[in-house]
Amino acid sequence: MLQQFIDLDSATRDAPLELSVIVPTLNEVGNVQPLLDKLALALAGIEWEAIFVDDGSSDGTPELLTQIAQADRRVRMIRRIGRRGLSSAVVEGALASTTPVIAVIDADLQHDERILPDLYRAIADGSELAIGTRYSDGGSTGDWDEKRLKISRFATALAAPVMKTPLSDPMSGFFAVRRDVLLDAAPNLSSVGYKILLDLVASAPRKLSLTEVPYTFGVRQHGESKLDDMVALEYLELLLDKMVGRFVPVKLIQFGAVGLLGVGVHLSLLFLAFDAAGFAFTLAQAFAVIGAMTFNFALNNRFTYRDRQLKGWAWAKGLASFYAVCALGAVGNVGIGSLVYETWHGVALAGIAGAVVGSVWNYVASGWLTWRKR
Ligand code: GDD
Ligand code: MN
Repeated sequence: MLQQFIDLDSATRDAPLELSVIVPTLNEVGNVQPLLDKLALALAGIEWEAIFVDDGSSDGTPELLTQIAQADRRVRMIRRIGRRGLSSAVVEGALASTTPVIAVIDADLQHDERILPDLYRAIADGSELAIGTRYSDGGSTGDWDEKRLKISRFATALAAPVMKTPLSDPMSGFFAVRRDVLLDAAPNLSSVGYKILLDLVASAPRKLSLTEVPYTFGVRQHGESKLDDMVALEYLELLLDKMVGRFVPVKLIQFGAVGLLGVGVHLSLLFLAFDAAGFAFTLAQAFAVIGAMTFNFALNNRFTYRDRQLKGWAWAKGLASFYAVCALGAVGNVGIGSLVYETWHGVALAGIAGAVVGSVWNYVASGWLTWRKR
C-alpha cells in the first residue's frame, strides 16, 4: 500500500528537465505557436522547456504566451518592461533556467530547429559549446544577396581577434551551451546589441571545446526583422568593449566622440552667426554653445545612451538636465583651466586640462542625472 503510494507520487512528478530553450521575442505573435510545434517535434525524447523573453511586444505576443503557458508547463515567459536588446534578453532567460544544457534560438523560424537535438547531444557527449553554422560544408545562408553576404563575412572577420574559441559563424546566435560555462562567462558579458554568441566566446575565461553543426538559414515566416541602422554600431560597441572595456568604459569613448563632433558644430554655428548673420560675438557664441549642447544631447540620446533612450516629455526634461550639467561642467572647465594656467603658464595645456575635466564631469553627471539607469 505504502509502496504503491510512493510509486504513484514519483510517477506524477515530472522527469527532470534536461534542456532550456531560450527564445527572445519582440513582436513575434505569428511565429510563437509554429515554433513551439516544431520544437515539440524536434525535441521528442528530450525533457525540454522553452523560456521566452519578451521586451514589451505590442502585437499580442506576451498575451498569447501567457495563454499557452497556462496550458503547457514546458513554456515559461519573462517580460521585461522599458528594456531592449536581444543579447541581454537571452542572458536573462538563460539565468532564469536551471537545466544542465541551455540552447538559444530566434523565434522567427530562421534557425533550423531540426538540428537542436544534435546541438543538445554534442553537449551531453562532452562539448562545452555547440553552434549552428551557415559557413561550413552543408551549411548555407539561404537566399541572401551578395551585399548581405559580404557584410556578414566582413563582420565575422572583425570578430576574430576577440574570440577565444574560433567559430566559423559567431553571428547567427543559434547554439547550445553547458550551463556552468555560461555561468562562468556571465559576469564578463557585455550584453550589448545582437551578438550574444560572440559575446559568450569572448567573455568565457578560456577556449571552449566546440562542436559545429551546419544548417541553412531560413526565411522569416511572419513579422519583420528588428535589425536597424544601429545594429552595426552596436556591433562595434561590443567589439570595442571586449578589446578595451577593461580600461575605459565604451560609453565614455562614445560620449567623447560625440563631444568632438560637438566642437565642430559649435565652430560652424559660431561662424554662421558671427560672419554670415553679423551677430555680436557674445550673442553668436551663446547661440553656438546652446546649439552644440543640444546637438550633443540629441546624439548621445540616440547613440551613446540608446539603451536608455529618452522620448517625448522625458526628452525635454533630459535636455534641461543636460544643460544644467554642462553649465556646471563649464564652471569646472574655467576653474581648472585657470588653476593650471596660474601654475604652469601654458595656454594650450590649461585649455586642454579644463576641457578634459569639464568633459569627464559632463559624462559622469549626465550618466547619473540625465540618463539614469532603470
Ligand atoms: N526580447 C527581445 N528584445 N527580442 C528581440 C529584440 C529585443 O530587443 N530584438 C530582436 N529580438 C528577437 C526577435 O523577435 C527574433 O526572435 C530574434 O530576436 C532575432 O531578431 P530578428 O529581428 O529576426 O533578427 P534577424 O533575423 O534580422 O537577425 C538574426 O540573424 C542575423 C543573421 O545571422 C540575428 O540572429 C542576428 O544576430 C544575425 O546577425
Ligand atoms: Mn530573423
